[in-house]
Amino acid sequence: MDDSAAQLLPIQHHQVTPIMSYKIAVLGGDGTGPEVAREGVKVLEAIAQQENFSCDLTHLDWGGDRYLKTGEPLPADGLDQLRQFDAVFLGAIGHPDVAPGILERSLLLDVRFGLDQYINLRPVKLFPGVETPLKDKGPDDIDFVVVRENTEDMYCGAGGVMHKGTPREVATQTAIYTRKGCERCIRYAFEYTQKRNNPKGKRLTLVAKTNVLTVGHDLWWRTFQEVAEEYPDVETDYNHVDACCMWIVKNPEFYDVIVTTNMFGDIITDLSGMIQGGMGVAAGGNINPEEGGTSMFEPMGGSAPKYTGKGVINPIAAINAAGMLLDRIGESKAADRVMQAIMHVTGEKMQSQNAGKMGYSTSEIGDLVVEAL
Ligand code: IPM
Ligand code: MN
Repeated sequence: MDDSAAQLLPIQHHQVTPIMSYKIAVLGGDGTGPEVAREGVKVLEAIAQQENFSCDLTHLDWGGDRYLKTGEPLPADGLDQLRQFDAVFLGAIGHPDVAPGILERSLLLDVRFGLDQYINLRPVKLFPGVETPLKDKGPDDIDFVVVRENTEDMYCGAGGVMHKGTPREVATQTAIYTRKGCERCIRYAFEYTQKRNNPKGKRLTLVAKTNVLTVGHDLWWRTFQEVAEEYPDVETDYNHVDACCMWIVKNPEFYDVIVTTNMFGDIITDLSGMIQGGMGVAAGGNINPEEGGTSMFEPMGGSAPKYTGKGVINPIAAINAAGMLLDRIGESKAADRVMQAIMHVTGEKMQSQNAGKMGYSTSEIGDLVVEAL
């Protein structure tokens, strides 16, 4: 057959739009973790169907029970397994029969470090209908985001002990800051502030302690000033961490985006979590922003073992985390819809965000969010 004849053959068009499929690891974890993760997954699956993508879920039984049975919270190749996923969805870790530190180190810190999840992203948003302990503050006042560095500082494990248990005992636990580590975090925060595009003004506040940590936080300060020059549309500000704690309580409306070091970020995000209504609603992401990086999303609540199996724990934080996951994998419309549905349920349905006082069971809250999508 010559070329001209070939061109005359009718061409069959198979117009099949490829459905995006995301590989997601679900790590229910300990205590009430699996219960809240189940509701997050319920919402993920519902929105995926409506928005025409699919979630290829792999459930992993890592955590405290596995540790008690096998001596290992996760398999030896666990981090390599996680790297194969587009995202990880974590319920909670923390088991009453496992000494503190073991699960945190292997399931949280090792994952953050091993997968280079160098951003800990904590949106602090008071949803409608949610009670804040701050007098006279409402959803318009409490809406900011903390970008916490997630791989350095006192978390890096540098240090040691001499003469342990004797009167001469010496203990060091060193904060390590690198130019690369703070620069990539600060740059992410500027990009985030730009993209968030707060109608009240784009403002990034560096929170540190430059008056005392005159070496390590000077590195942060100088890097912040330098990177700021690349983002002239973002207003910059600086707070010492102690002052920041006062302002978060007194004038939370002042903040748009905060960027801070790992240890300070740990503390101010719990403070912030309380003003947004507590652990039943607060969610966070451990993010590797690089192309192909795997990020992990979690409700902040912890495993709350005493409520395990009772169906009373609040899954809003987990659903909130699922929404953040959707945003990260690029399904921003789906993420938006999940947030809207959450706000409908907190604003119109729930009596309280506290376990056992919601007016609904854990799974009923998941159903309500799905209904509201
Ligand atoms: C958090 C937690 C962890 C941290 C603990 C459990 C290691 O408090 O995610 O904020 O300190 O980072
Ligand atoms: Mn913390």
